[in-house]
Amino acid sequence: MTDLKEIESRHISVLLDELVDSINITDEKKNIIVDCTLWMWWHASKIIKKMNPWDVFIWFDADIQNLELAKIRLDKINTNNKIEIILINSNFINLKDELEKKWINKITWIYYDLWLSSLHLDEADRWFSFMLNWPLDMRLDKSSWKTAADIINGYTQANLREIFMKYWEEPWSNKISARIVEHRKKEKFKTTTDLSEIIPGWPKTKSRIFQAIRIEVNQELEAIETSLKDAIKLLEKNWKIFVISFHSLEDRITKHIFKKETKDCICTDLICSCGHKKSLKVLTKKPIIPTDEEIKENSRSRSAKARCAEKII
Ligand SMILES: C[S@@+](CC[C@H](N)C(=O)[O-])C[C@H]1O[C@@H](n2cnc3c(N)ncnc32)[C@H](O)[C@@H]1O
Repeated sequence: MTDLKEIESRHISVLLDELVDSINITDEKKNIIVDCTLWMWWHASKIIKKMNPWDVFIWFDADIQNLELAKIRLDKINTNNKIEIILINSNFINLKDELEKKWINKITWIYYDLWLSSLHLDEADRWFSFMLNWPLDMRLDKSSWKTAADIINGYTQANLREIFMKYWEEPWSNKISARIVEHRKKEKFKTTTDLSEIIPGWPKTKSRIFQAIRIEVNQELEAIETSLKDAIKLLEKNWKIFVISFHSLEDRITKHIFKKETKDCICTDLICSCGHKKSLKVLTKKPIIPTDEEIKENSRSRSAKARCAEKII
C-alpha cells in the first residue's frame, strides 16, 4: 500500500506562491493549462482551485510512477470532478505531438518545474547518488533505451569528456574520461559504486559527473529547448509561460529562447531574410528567486530561478 502522506512529506514545492500568483484565469472562455512536470501536484492542486468547471488541465510526467500516484490523489484535488484533467505519461519534449493527439492546438497557460522530485533524489536506484551501490540506470522514463551503463561502457573517451565539460565544466573531465575507458577495457561498469570508485577527488566532482551522465541519459537540455519552443507557439495571445529551473544551463536555455522571441529579426543579414517576428514580452527582467525564508525551510530550493513571459501575437 502506497503511503501517500509519507511520500508527500518528502517533497516541498519551490516558488509555489510565485507561480500560482502569476496565473490569471479568465471567466470568459475555456482555460487550457499545462503542467509539464506534475509530480507531487503541489503546484497543480493550488492552481486547480482557481479554475472554472469548463476548463482543461493537462498533466505531463515522464515518470509513470508519479502519474499513478497523482491518479490516486485525483479525487481529493479535483473535488466534484469539476475540471477535465488529462494525464499524459510522456517526456515534455513530445508536448506538441501529445496535445495534437488530443486535438489541442492552443493553450492559455503552461509551466515547468524542472529537475527531479525529492523522491527521485532520495531513490538512488533510479538516480545518481554515488553513495549507494545500485545498477547504473538513471532513466526517468523506463521505456527509453539508453541507460547510464550504456553511456559509460559505450561512449568514446572524447564523447565522455564532452558531456562532462558541456554539462558541468568539470575540470577533471579529461582525467576521468581516460580512467573510465581504461577501467572498462578490463571490466564493464555495472553499478554506481563501480563508477564512483574510479572518480578521484571530492564528493563535488563525483556529484557533477553523476549529474552530467543523468542529463545525457535523459537528454534533459534538448527536451527543454524543444518543448519551450513548441510551448511558445502553442500559447494564445496574452497568455503566459513560467519556467522554474535549478541548473544554470536550464536557466540559460530559457533566458535565450525568451530573448530570441522578443526580437523581430534573428538573422545577421543586412536585409532581414529570416522573417522572424517577436512573439513574447519577458515579464521577469531578473529571474525570480526563493526568499531567504523559503531557502531556510527547504535548502533544495536555493538554486531555483524562475522566468515568466507573455505571448504578444
Ligand atoms: C520538481 S518535480 C515537480 C514538482 C511539482 N511541480 C510539485 O509542485 O509537486 C519534477 C517532475 O517532473 C518530471 N520530469 C522531469 N523531467 C521531465 C520531462 N522531460 N518530461 C516530463 N516530466 C519530467 C519528474 O518525473 C518529476 O516528477
